Amino acid sequence: MQPSSKSTQLPIKTKVWDIPTRVFHWGMLCLLAALYWTASEGEMEWHQICAYGLMVLLAFRIIWGIIGSETAQFKHFVHSPKVVFNYAKQVKNKQAPIAVGHNPLGGYMVVALITLVCLQLISGLFATDDIFTEGPLYASVSSEVSSWLTWLHKKNFDLILVLSAVHVLAVIVHRFKGEKLVAAMVTGYKQLDRHVELSFRSLVIAIIVFVTLAIPITTWLILPVWQQLI
Ligand code: HEM
Ligand code: HEM
Repeated sequence: MQPSSKSTQLPIKTKVWDIPTRVFHWGMLCLLAALYWTASEGEMEWHQICAYGLMVLLAFRIIWGIIGSETAQFKHFVHSPKVVFNYAKQVKNKQAPIAVGHNPLGGYMVVALITLVCLQLISGLFATDDIFTEGPLYASVSSEVSSWLTWLHKKNFDLILVLSAVHVLAVIVHRFKGEKLVAAMVTGYKQLDRHVELSFRSLVIAIIVFVTLAIPITTWLILPVWQQLI
């Protein structure tokens, strides 16, 4: 569904986000906070367990971006630079339409945030604190490469914080313009100025994909760390 031009119709309550996309977003936010806290407190077993939980969520979201509900699909919100540039011009002229899912500018931000969180996770797999904790792929690279990836692991998190701040600021700006994006990410419903038909994928398919990813990640990554804890 492409955004259409603004009309004068009364707001129409429309379901735009499915449950899996909302669970992914708020689950990722909670796990990122937990990952920051566990690293600061040196709770490195819990750091790894949270990271592997996030791995399940991220892998799920990438697959859902291909086979999921319409607004969750990457092709729905990742547009060509030309479309993004035209949208930015509409924003500047205060003519931008209310987006059905992510707007074209926001779409690029979503891809950037997911990419950075993936990079954080991958660099963590090779990282070491030079005391007790080594990522599961630490031994597969030289100590120079591991040191560099540990450095990246620390710096990249700062970048995630900067981009998240911009992301939240954008959400606040939209709120001032009357668009309740947070409420939509919580309830799934958004007030639109026109009727739109969206297709949603069954929750059962989401659960099957999620469990299929969770079983091997739990068996090979989470359980060995859990055994060190008990
Ligand atoms: C309190 C903090 C946050 C709030 C209030 C918030 C709010 C939102 C809202 C309202 C949307 C939907 C935007 C739209 O309608 O286009 C969204 C999407 C998104 N946000 Fe956040 N966000 C927060 C933190 C974060 C953080 C820390 C990250 C990651 C580093 C993040 C990553 C994303 C991603 C990837 C999406 C797209 C969701 C999807 O399509 O699956 N958010 N956020
Ligand atoms: C997306 C997932 C992850 C996030 C958000 C994350 C976040 C963080 C943060 C914020 C720090 C503290 C950085 C600093 O001191 O400035 C850290 C340190 C660390 N993380 Fe992660 N991490 C993730 C995944 C992983 C994974 C999978 C491992 C594998 C074991 C890992 C291992 C480490 C280690 C060893 C350190 C300590 C580095 C040191 O103090 O020298 N992380 N992580």
